[in-house]
Amino acid sequence: MTKREEWKSRLGFIWAAVGSAVGLGNIWRFPYVVGENGGALFVLLYLICLAAVAFPILVAEIVIGRKAKSSPYRSFLSLGKSKVWGAGGKLTIVTGFLVSSFYGVIAGWTLGYLVQAFFGNLTNFVSDVEAVSYFEKVTSSPVWSLSTFFLLMGCCYWILSCGVKKGIEGANKVMMPLLMVVLFLLAMRGLVLPGGGEALKFLFAPDFSQLSGRVVLMALGQAFFSLSLGQGTMVTYGSYLSKKENIATTTLPIALFGLFISLFAGIAIFSVVFSGGGAISSGEGLMFEALPVAFSKMRGGYFFCLLFFGLIFMAGLTSQISALEPLIAFLVDEKRWNRRRATLIAVIASFLVGIPSALSFGPWKKMHFFEFVSGVSVNLLIPIGGLLAAILAGWRWGLKNSMEHLWEGAEEFFARKPFVESYLRFSIKYLAPVTTIIILFDQLF
Ligand code: PHE
Repeated sequence: MTKREEWKSRLGFIWAAVGSAVGLGNIWRFPYVVGENGGALFVLLYLICLAAVAFPILVAEIVIGRKAKSSPYRSFLSLGKSKVWGAGGKLTIVTGFLVSSFYGVIAGWTLGYLVQAFFGNLTNFVSDVEAVSYFEKVTSSPVWSLSTFFLLMGCCYWILSCGVKKGIEGANKVMMPLLMVVLFLLAMRGLVLPGGGEALKFLFAPDFSQLSGRVVLMALGQAFFSLSLGQGTMVTYGSYLSKKENIATTTLPIALFGLFISLFAGIAIFSVVFSGGGAISSGEGLMFEALPVAFSKMRGGYFFCLLFFGLIFMAGLTSQISALEPLIAFLVDEKRWNRRRATLIAVIASFLVGIPSALSFGPWKKMHFFEFVSGVSVNLLIPIGGLLAAILAGWRWGLKNSMEHLWEGAEEFFARKPFVESYLRFSIKYLAPVTTIIILFDQLF
């Protein structure tokens, strides 16, 4: 067997994984699901789900990938030692593919908005009504949404097949911190707006009367989605990680980075919403409507707008390529296709499957295709994928084996911090799978 490609350094892995995790999920999706699910209560549940369930599953997925050193399918098959587990691995690959089909549509919007930002068309809105009608005008146009989606997929193909992937991942270490700084500044600026205080209250003062099974499921789905779990991505990225690295400490920055970016985005966006006239929608348009309103009113708005859409476009792109990577790894490893062919087929198929989602904001609005595909992926398939990883690591392959592998490269760390091991053990074996099963059952039946 040829030696599998590995990340050159620990930081190379961290930045690639941060590039996958941080994306539209944090900046576009998080604020609007917060808005639709009761604000602060959702934020609180999201934090609990991250710490108790999603973070330990992130560790489990990386352990599985690094041990098996192959695509999610073969990783699940070899550690689960049965065809059924292989099928579970395939399910995670299909999930990643489905995610890429709707995620690419929104990433395409960021590309379209970047172009408009360049021409200065996003920084002259006088009221939020104008920003809303602008958003509705562009996204309902089939030509605009399909062409931006197509161009985005073209970028993915170029990055994934032409060997520039490493360069892009290297660029993450500049772009991701810069994105964090830009969002931090936008959040700070938001706080001095008239609606700043109300935004903080909305995000951080929970109203427990809103509690329902549905809200808990949405929070869990968002926690998984934002860490790119349940769809083979982190298993695949872990498969390129060296055994010399400490998995526990390399994964923590990934989770923290995403969390802060989400919170800053929430503050930046809701402070605009609460300062405006109430026209901004609570759905998929939220970020695209609120931030241009802010850019239109601030000094240096043109510059910030361009920078923001440039960075979020790149953040979306690095996440999109990571959603397609498991399928490509599968076609290369299992079907023995060359990488270029595998990439081309994966990208074209994802575009074709994504067309109805792209049209869901225009001519095919009534069919709610986007809502359906994203809802099934994020609130059903992704939690199932995460659950499978926890059961594989905690039960089937077994906690003893997983923990032995986790210790590799981290002997000193776990010897000094035994409670980290106890927490991961308890969560991977009991807390994460039991919580996920209860939440899923509660909603399904
Ligand atoms: N975690 C990414 C985000 O928050 C989304 C994503 C999901 C990326 C699945 C890859 C795979 O934007």
